[in-house]
Amino acid sequence: MKVLVSAASRHGATAEIASAIGETLTEAGLEAVVLTPDAVTTLDGYDAVILGSGIYVGHWMDTAKNLVERHSAALASRPVWLFSSGPIGEPPKPEEDPADIAEIIEATNARGHRLFAGKVDKAVLGLGEKVILKAVRAQDGDFRSWADVREWAGGIAAVLKAESNAAGA
Ligand SMILES: Cc1cc2nc3c(=O)[nH]c(=O)nc-3n(C[C@H](O)[C@H](O)[C@H](O)COP(=O)(O)O)c2cc1C
Repeated sequence: MKVLVSAASRHGATAEIASAIGETLTEAGLEAVVLTPDAVTTLDGYDAVILGSGIYVGHWMDTAKNLVERHSAALASRPVWLFSSGPIGEPPKPEEDPADIAEIIEATNARGHRLFAGKVDKAVLGLGEKVILKAVRAQDGDFRSWADVREWAGGIAAVLKAESNAAGA
């Protein structure tokens, strides 16, 4: 089973989540390919897709949404799981899913969507980003839970392996 893991990431935090998902799938015995959304030219050869994005001002990033637009038919015809990374702080906030996620679930026929906590490093933000963070009084830091990420990815690996075994039986 070959699984594509792709995530839009402005400052690298969501890309690292995609890598951890890829590693978890590989450890579970699946073949995982991790690509940025812009690098995805075809879904041919992939049995399943895990697609994610960092959340910016309540929305998925354009590169991830563009991938969905380009490949909606291919996505809708294979198992797809979605994830978003955004909420920061203790406890992580905001708790809301991205505003566009219902539309993306519908377009991809996704089996699920998971919201993971994110990471903000003020040192690498642009001026406009700093202004937005200050306006919402967000505290920076790394709030990602690798245990949550690995547990979620491990669950997906188990489902895909069970379905593959059932199909081959
Ligand atoms: C300007 C700005 C706006 C953000 N807006 C949101 C938001 O609306 N909702 C949310 O959950 N997280 C928001 N975040 C947090 C980021 O999504 C989070 O830090 C994420 O892990 C960043 O991922 P990346 O490094 O892959 O780009 C925002 C961060 C910045 C800098």
